[in-house]
Parts: sequence; structure tokens; C-alpha cells
Amino acid sequence: MGVTHIPVLREEVADNLASNTGRLFIDATVGGGGHSSFILTRYPDLNLLGLDVDEGNLKTAEARLREFGGRVTLIRGNFRNLKAILQQAGISSFDGILFDLGLSTYQLTGARGFSFHDESFLDMRMDGREALTAYDVVNKYNYEALKRVILEFGEEYRAGRIAKVITEERKKKPITTAKELAEIVGKAKKRTGKIHPATKTFQAIRIEVNEELNSLRSGLADAIDMARPKGRIGVISFHSLEDRIVKEMFRGSASLSIVTKKPIRPGREEVLSNPNARSAKLRVAEKK
Ligand SMILES: C[S@@+](CC[C@H](N)C(=O)[O-])C[C@H]1O[C@@H](n2cnc3c(N)ncnc32)[C@H](O)[C@@H]1O
Repeated sequence: MGVTHIPVLREEVADNLASNTGRLFIDATVGGGGHSSFILTRYPDLNLLGLDVDEGNLKTAEARLREFGGRVTLIRGNFRNLKAILQQAGISSFDGILFDLGLSTYQLTGARGFSFHDESFLDMRMDGREALTAYDVVNKYNYEALKRVILEFGEEYRAGRIAKVITEERKKKPITTAKELAEIVGKAKKRTGKIHPATKTFQAIRIEVNEELNSLRSGLADAIDMARPKGRIGVISFHSLEDRIVKEMFRGSASLSIVTKKPIRPGREEVLSNPNARSAKLRVAEKK
């Protein structure tokens, strides 16, 4: 495979979300199985159900978690349907759950339109069974819709200008790759500092394509509902839109006690060895 996804804050996740007394842990974003493998090793009596929408990632998890045999069940599904998926699997409650949001390294490096240099089709779907692609958003949304997506999901103050340049460029020819999109956004917004000028636009389009914020709201509501008393719910978020939803849903739920008054952040050492961890925030709550 060549690349490995390094699980973010894995010690902190294992310390705060799972324990030897628990029986069932749900990894709602099993990805390459990094967190799952660490948790299963640390807590030998724990069983785990792993969920992911991405077929390729689920295969990676399957290979990685094979050594744990019957302790692991893997299901391809979207955590926005968490309750239905668990109920179908005969599960009515659990002791701990992790949502590790964002992309895995396998997705970022998989030539699927997620990264600025991709010259393959502008896709950005985590679940290849869904209809809407980034190509559709970029080439078919009208100016107003495109501007709204970039402003709302990218918190990009240049949203109007970027949407205008995109709609002008696509009249000449459709925008078919992530590289083309990154260059077009680069024309509309000059680079300031180290961050690529298309970072926020890419985030926005990815959120739109995968309905990430609504999925998070729905998955988290189901998790709050189904956790056992004393069960732990943890979310690792990577940008402020996600973190705000987690913070507000945790605070707004009368059935939860907040475990992390302030989010847990990776230390300097972790960020140095895994720069993808730099914006991670882990929030944990406990069911009353
Ligand atoms: C950051 S990765 C998780 C990495 C994993 N914790 C590990 O250590 O290998 C996030 C994963 O969540 C999956 N994902 C994102 N949104 C999802 C959703 N709504 N339902 C299920 N899986 C989702 C992605 O496909 C990706 O594999």
C-alpha cells in the first residue's frame, strides 16, 4: 500500500473512551483500523464494531484487524444511520464510541480529487455509491449556490470572488481535476503564508459532497441516545465547523456529562511526527 494512516491522539482515545470493564466499543470511522487495533490490543476483553463508508478503507481495516478474529465486526455504512445500522446488527447499546472525522491518508493519497495536485477525476466522494461528486458541485451549481457552499462550509471570506472565477473558467471548458480547481482558486485568491489558497474551498466542497456536517449531527444524536449509562462518546474534529457542532451537542444534551471541559490537543511531539494531527481536537462526554 505504501502509505500508512497514523491514528491521531490514540493514547488519549484509548485512555478516555474505552476500559477493561466495557464489553462493546464502536469505531464509527474505522478507516485503516489504527485506533481500533490499538484499543483491541489494550483491552483484551473488549469487542469492537467498526463502520466506514469507504470500501477501500474498510478492506484495509479488515486486513489489519484480522488478528483479533471474532472480537471484530466490520460494516460498510454511514454513521448518519448509526442507530439503524446498530439495530440491524442486533445492538441496542455500547460502552464507548469514537468518531475520528476527516480524511484518512489512504483517501488523501488515493488520487480521488481530495488533494491539490490530483490530476485524476474531481470526485471527493468517500462513498463511491453516492451520486453527487465534486465535479457536479464545481461545474453544475449556479454562482449563488457555489458561493453559499464556499462561504458556509469553508468560512472563506473570498467566496464570492472564487465562485465568480470558477463560473467564468468553466464556461471555457469543464473543470475536471482537483489540480485545475486548485489553480483556478489560486487565481482568484492569492497565497498568503504557508497555507494553500484553495484549502478552504476544498474543505467546503468536500463537506458538501459528503454531507459531512449533517451526518455528524445525526450520528452524534444516535450515539448519545444509544450509549449505555457511563458509556463514553468521543469525537476528534479537524476544523471549527465540526468542533462547534460537537461542543454544542454535548453541552445541549441533558443526558451527558462533559469529560473534557477543554478539548484534548496533540502535543508538540505528536504534531512533529504527524503534521496531519496539528488541528485535531478530541472532545469526550459520558452518558449519565
Ligand atoms: C480520519 S479517518 C479514520 C482513521 C482511523 N481512525 C484510523 O486510525 O485508521 C476517517 C474515516 O472516516 C470515514 N468516514 C467519514 N465520514 C463517514 C461517515 N459519515 N460514516 C462512516 N464513515 C465515515 C472515512 O471514509 C475515513 O475512512
